[in-house]
Amino acid sequence: MQFDLPSMKPMDRYELLLGTVVPRPIAIVTTLNSDGVLNAAPYSLFNVVGHDPPVIMIAVLPHPEGRLKDTADNIFVTKEFVVNLVPEALAEAMNITCIDAPPGRNELQLAKLETAPSIAVKPPRIAESPVAFECRLLTSLSFGPHQAIVFGEVANAYVADRYVLDAERALVDTPKLELFGAMHAARWYSKTSDRFEMVRPNWARWVKDGKVDENERSA
Ligand SMILES: Cc1cc2nc3c(=O)[nH]c(=O)nc-3n(C[C@H](O)[C@H](O)[C@H](O)COP(=O)(O)O)c2cc1C
Repeated sequence: MQFDLPSMKPMDRYELLLGTVVPRPIAIVTTLNSDGVLNAAPYSLFNVVGHDPPVIMIAVLPHPEGRLKDTADNIFVTKEFVVNLVPEALAEAMNITCIDAPPGRNELQLAKLETAPSIAVKPPRIAESPVAFECRLLTSLSFGPHQAIVFGEVANAYVADRYVLDAERALVDTPKLELFGAMHAARWYSKTSDRFEMVRPNWARWVKDGKVDENERSA
């Protein structure tokens, strides 16, 4: 079946796109508003988009009330945000932080999560989060009303000591982080404990092993 995206209802496009592009990493993004009030919310449309410089992007979709979500609002005002990664043990707490609480209610308190000071930016990190990236707004894009894709340069990264295998080489015990991913229908998730290993192919090795004839030309 083919889907003609432009003629579809926005929510149907949402189901199709977010029901197929899975699993997505999940972050709880912490920001401060202009009065210094803390905000926290989960985002799965986020990823690393560069390492030199180190850049992370977050796609903030329109708020159902037809306004920018607080996370984007705060980032545009303060130019700073912290991306806190979420292990399985914090799944329920993460879910609570997306509650549509009235303004002024601290989602982290509702989720019983603590904060710890950041090093390079003002918004704090989540103390229970094993990895936190402190970001400064680099640039943003917008493809429609009340939405924004923000790009932040990572100024400092926190990784809890127990997950660091080799500090000099910045090697982290990724499986031990027990991170999980967002799946379909805005309520399904997947664990990252079911893994398999695959080494990337190398042309010279393939020639040596006789898997390809280096003189043959593709049709
Ligand atoms: C796992 C999960 C992932 C989410 N990912 C996103 C996302 O990538 N973009 C987005 O706009 N909203 C996302 N949401 C919804 C926001 O968290 C929700 O709208 C929240 O209330 C926004 O809060 P804010 O206005 O404080 O930024 C996600 C929710 C959950 C539970």
